[in-house]
Amino acid sequence: MSSQRSPLNLPTINVPPHPEWPSLSDSETTALKTRIKKLLEQQNAVLVAHYYTNADLQALAEESGGCVADSLEMARFGAAHDAQTLVVCGVRFMGETAKILSPEKRVIMPDLGATCSLDEGCPADKFSDFCDQHPDHTVVVYANTSADVKARSDWVVTSGIALPIARYLAEKGEKILWAPDRHLGNYVQGVSGAEMLFWPGSCVVHEEFKSVALERIKRLHPDAAVLVHPESPQNIVDQADVIGSTTALIKAVSEMKNKEFIVATDGGIFYKMQQMAPDKVLIEAPTAGEGATCISCAHCPWMGMNALQNIAEVLESGANEIHIDPAIQERAVKPIQRMLDFARTHDIGMKEKGNA
Ligand code: 13P
Ligand code: SF4
Repeated sequence: MSSQRSPLNLPTINVPPHPEWPSLSDSETTALKTRIKKLLEQQNAVLVAHYYTNADLQALAEESGGCVADSLEMARFGAAHDAQTLVVCGVRFMGETAKILSPEKRVIMPDLGATCSLDEGCPADKFSDFCDQHPDHTVVVYANTSADVKARSDWVVTSGIALPIARYLAEKGEKILWAPDRHLGNYVQGVSGAEMLFWPGSCVVHEEFKSVALERIKRLHPDAAVLVHPESPQNIVDQADVIGSTTALIKAVSEMKNKEFIVATDGGIFYKMQQMAPDKVLIEAPTAGEGATCISCAHCPWMGMNALQNIAEVLESGANEIHIDPAIQERAVKPIQRMLDFARTHDIGMKEKGNA
């Protein structure tokens, strides 16, 4: 287990190794999928999966009438679906957001230990103190945060909607306290011109992309388009042809004329990109090079905690249910709902449109 310490004395973030799941034969995979589909049906349950989960899991979510999406669409899908149980396959904040939006539903996750370095690096008590010190700022938090942090915010945003909301607030002359991802914040500030104060958080997966190595790979593939998730550092964002949410990057692969793409985000996204555009060539942006630590090598270790095996187990045992304190739920739902209302009224980020 490797760890990273924030310069501002925030908690140490323990980054687990990427889980190794025993490989399954084709017939074992088919049998497991059949078992899960039956359990889903018996329990009036649906799978809500993120693009970073593994390919078998994404395929099952699609085959069984669930969804594979970015974090904004996962939130919307779970709230709109009439299943009584949501099996959220992603990281913990995604399960919590689903529960906050649908407190009457049962929300379970394959592994409750699947967290996120952004969430871990933003403890609610310290964050609340930070907000108290800046009462003249509108508090905007990224969805990758705990329910308690969301409850302290005015707006929740995902990468698919961060920019339009920041522009909207800037136009109203509001100053923004932004947490926790400073890279996403930096990007949003640069484009929107909003006055922003940053919490010093980052994603351990996207922080690993290396700019000099990326320049080198670009020289080897001069016609490739560079696709970058805005959780990446500035020197990676600066080299991008497209910067956007996971949905926006998938849309770019299927719509752009380029044959090759260098992709700076979690490798789990390749499954959907390849499905949408089988004739395109996808190249992982480099995580090796000077200063490389290879904590995650473009594969989120927490997303990797989701697998067919533990979906079946959790449906059978009924374990790993998400519970949210009702007082926190009541406060946290408001900034999430504000985001969803904004998305609806501004026609932003619907899955099929894939706006960044
Ligand atoms: P999206 O909101 O683009 O799905 O990203 C979530 C995330 O955790 C990216 O690392
Ligand atoms: Fe969090 Fe980064 Fe993993 Fe996304 S990829 S869930 S931001 S640690």
